[in-house]
Amino acid sequence: MNVAIIGHGNMGSGLAGALVSAGHHVWLAGRDQEKVAAVAATTGATANSLVDAVQQAEVVFLALPFAAMAEALAAAGDLAGRVVVDICNPVSADFKQLVIGHTTSAGEQVQRWAPAARVVKAFNTIFAPLLAPAARADKTLQVFMASDDSAAKAVLASLVQSIGFEAVDAGGLENCRLLEPVGLMNIQFGYFLGQGPAVAPGWVKV
Ligand SMILES: NC(=O)c1ccc[n+]([C@@H]2O[C@H](COP(=O)([O-])OP(=O)(O)OC[C@H]3O[C@@H](n4cnc5c(N)ncnc54)[C@H](OP(=O)(O)O)[C@@H]3O)[C@@H](O)[C@H]2O)c1
Repeated sequence: MNVAIIGHGNMGSGLAGALVSAGHHVWLAGRDQEKVAAVAATTGATANSLVDAVQQAEVVFLALPFAAMAEALAAAGDLAGRVVVDICNPVSADFKQLVIGHTTSAGEQVQRWAPAARVVKAFNTIFAPLLAPAARADKTLQVFMASDDSAAKAVLASLVQSIGFEAVDAGGLENCRLLEPVGLMNIQFGYFLGQGPAVAPGWVKV
């Protein structure tokens, strides 16, 4: 599949490496062309401008802080029909609070900023080091997907499965109001309650 990743940090580079290894073509874009080129060279992605990367892609990952998304989406060109994956945890600078929630969510806000896109929330409960398949050993971690577009979730599910995760349908986009606090709890476990970044939430059926 042709995939664009906007952002070249921990999540952008981790997603690029995993997706390229699984045989996808990854078009990488970001605000710093030197960093884009460096991450492309180490992951096997193709460096591109924002608009061109998006034009090549069926699925577009926003590997950016929530605060950077409105500007990036406005500059991304035509997003109509594209599956746009919001992976963010919209947290305060100290990573202890959500800056949006209860009656809306970052995922819903992203859909408002990009009304023609097919927005799916996913990966916000997976720490960047766990994107590398080797870091997950024999565990199959769950990626929760929330979207109002079932077909978009199916497209993303195939990508999620291709890099070794279980894709879990977490309902409509409104459920980002629930998934984003789960992401914040994961940050609590990982960074404030001493468990480290090799943890991820899973829903267990008994
Ligand atoms: N790290 C995790 O384990 C993790 C887990 C789940 C979800 N997430 C979410 O994933 C997203 C990315 O996190 P990350 O850890 O990859 O962050 P990161 O390593 O800090 O990378 C952020 C990327 O966004 C770019 N960026 C930052 N501010 C920007 C702005 N104002 N305009 C344009 N680009 C900007 C950065 O560019 P520069 O390098 O030029 O600053 C970089 O490419 C966040 O929303 C986070 O909540 C992270």
